[in-house]
Amino acid sequence: MHTGFITACVLILFPTLATLNLMETKLSCPPECICLSQTQILCNSGGLKDVPLKLLPITVEHLSLTKNQFSVIRSDCFSGLKYLKKLSLDGNNISVIKPFAFRGLPRLRELSIQQTPLMTVPRFAFAGLQNITSIILSHNRIKQVESYAFAGTTNLKVLVLTNNPIVKLESHAFSGLISVDKLSFPSGIRVIEPDAFNGLDTVNHLKLSFMDLPRIEESTFRGLTNVEVFSIQESDLGTIESEAFNCVTNIKMFFVINNKIDSIEGMNITQEHNVGVLKFQEGPLANGSVSKFMSENYCISPLEMNGKPMNQLDFDSIIRCPYNVSEEIGEIASNASKGVLTVNTLILNMFYVILFMIKYT
Ligand SMILES: *[C@@H]1O[C@H](CO)[C@@H](O)[C@H](O)[C@H]1NC(C)=O
Ligand SMILES: *[C@@H]1O[C@H](CO)[C@@H](O)[C@H](O)[C@H]1NC(C)=O
Ligand SMILES: *[C@@H]1O[C@H](CO)[C@@H](O)[C@H](O)[C@H]1NC(C)=O
Ligand SMILES: *[C@@H]1O[C@H](CO)[C@@H](O)[C@H](O)[C@H]1NC(C)=O
Ligand SMILES: *[C@@H]1O[C@H](CO)[C@@H](O)[C@H](O)[C@H]1NC(C)=O
Repeated sequence: MHTGFITACVLILFPTLATLNLMETKLSCPPECICLSQTQILCNSGGLKDVPLKLLPITVEHLSLTKNQFSVIRSDCFSGLKYLKKLSLDGNNISVIKPFAFRGLPRLRELSIQQTPLMTVPRFAFAGLQNITSIILSHNRIKQVESYAFAGTTNLKVLVLTNNPIVKLESHAFSGLISVDKLSFPSGIRVIEPDAFNGLDTVNHLKLSFMDLPRIEESTFRGLTNVEVFSIQESDLGTIESEAFNCVTNIKMFFVINNKIDSIEGMNITQEHNVGVLKFQEGPLANGSVSKFMSENYCISPLEMNGKPMNQLDFDSIIRCPYNVSEEIGEIASNASKGVLTVNTLILNMFYVILFMIKYT
């Protein structure tokens, strides 16, 4: 009985084993890697200096190359992995990504490059990744995002740049990102070149905080339209030029809160800008009573004003500047009743707190 059973098993198993053996010899796996299957391959801590492109099965869909020794990601170095959906290059010694490094990966959806010494996101780095939806670039040493860095990634939805010492966003840095939902930036941005955000259509959520900018000009945020929530906060904004927000249109919620501003030369946000909610609030000095602020003649609004609609504000009690700004105040007050904020050449030198909440209906 027993022998018969075993023989039967062997007879049944043998062809299966033989087929498996045959498959193993036919299909390759780089010696540094673990091929969990022909679609899922881990080459972690393998000491690799280059992508073992010739030995990787073309069928690979998930490829992890974390903690190897790549220092330069050359152009076309993954070319041919046409089924690849997910790629991780975390923990490598990557200092350079060449243009078109990821060309030839038509199905790549998720790319992660984290914990590397990469300092620059160069132009055309991700060009050709038409189907990519997520690029995670946090925890690198990125200082600069070059022009057209994300050109060609038209389906990108998530771009994460947090935990990088980003200082400079070049002109057209985000050009071509037409479907990105959320864009997260680290603190410390000091240079936003003209049109840095231009071409970034329909980003849902954009938060810029802890920046140190000398001035905000018309070109700084040009092209930022259709943003659901756009917030500029905890930043030193220097001078806000009169044209600064001319081109910022169709924003559902626009928050300029807790910033330090040296002067506001004007603020042109009218009904034609179609801003849903504008919250303009200066920080951090929110102490004190109305009489104290008035007696000290600060360009400051008292805390009690916070959150009040424009047309309910007593403007005489809000702005007390070393300058005679009554004409401008008159203009604000008359516009306020229409639900429109237009401040022209209102120079606020000493202020820290102006609290407005405007709701256009
Ligand atoms: C990382 O790369 C740089 C040059 O790109 C090289 O000088 C350095 O030795 C590398 N570090 C390691 C740990 O391989
Ligand atoms: C994007 O992926 C689809 C299939 O998911 C494919 O048909 C199409 O060719 C891909 N796009 C590119 C540019 O390769
Ligand atoms: C205010 O912005 C609108 C819309 O962008 C523009 O047409 C108008 O010229 C601007 N006004 C000033 C004074 O800059
Ligand atoms: C506000 O008041 C608190 C407590 O009275 C004080 O600690 C803080 O420094 C004040 N802030 C400013 C900006 O004056
Ligand atoms: C400010 O200007 C208004 C009219 O424009 C004038 O009535 C007022 O006296 C001026 N105040 C000062 C302090 O110059």
